[in-house]
Amino acid sequence: MSTSALRLEPVTADNFDAVCAVRVRPDQEHLVSPVVKSLAEAYVHGQVAWPRAVVDGDTVVGFVMAFVDIAWDPERDPSDIRSGIWRLNVDAAHQAKGYGRFAVEAVTDELRRRGASRVFVTWEPGPGTPEPFYRTLGFRLTGETSGGQTVGVLDLPPAPSS
Ligand SMILES: CC(C)(COP(=O)(O)OP(=O)(O)OC[C@H]1O[C@@H](n2cnc3c(N)ncnc32)[C@H](O)[C@@H]1OP(=O)(O)O)[C@@H](O)C(=O)NCCC(=O)NCCS
Repeated sequence: MSTSALRLEPVTADNFDAVCAVRVRPDQEHLVSPVVKSLAEAYVHGQVAWPRAVVDGDTVVGFVMAFVDIAWDPERDPSDIRSGIWRLNVDAAHQAKGYGRFAVEAVTDELRRRGASRVFVTWEPGPGTPEPFYRTLGFRLTGETSGGQTVGVLDLPPAPSS
């Protein structure tokens, strides 16, 4: 894998078809929405959604979408503003090659630049759960659930002062 060619790109008219063609394995389809649904949500929630293609060279290998600064549970605690990973789909043909890790780390970098000190994610428990993937990347359980999904968080170390 040529890491120098690995990057996140905005979803545009040029890569739209390739991004929509990203498919997880059939046995993983209960774990994440199809990319086209996420893009529709990004359109509707334009202020808080940050959708990106995961591209290696000329190939779209996945899709990731961050959420930025949303009130987690406004009725319980309006000051609990969170950012994190909303969706992550690595194409079945390209899994287990480090692309998922790259996408999470690239989103983490973006959220850190925007001032976040923590990166949240929710995942489906049960068969095929991506929990071991997120645990490998350093996420810990918050003890919360959201819509039946497990909530995880990655605490970011403070940026070194220059
Ligand atoms: C979960 C998913 C994003 C992982 O992407 P990936 O590109 O295959 O993962 P990577 O190759 O980057 O793996 C990174 C690390 O996590 C580990 N890992 C990945 N999936 C794992 C699993 N199911 N169980 C245990 N470890 C796992 C890898 O071994 C690797 O560890 P290493 O760096 O120490 O070798 C991908 O399998 C996927 O799209 N799944 C279906 C959709 C989904 O569940 N999305 C998440 C929604 S919240």
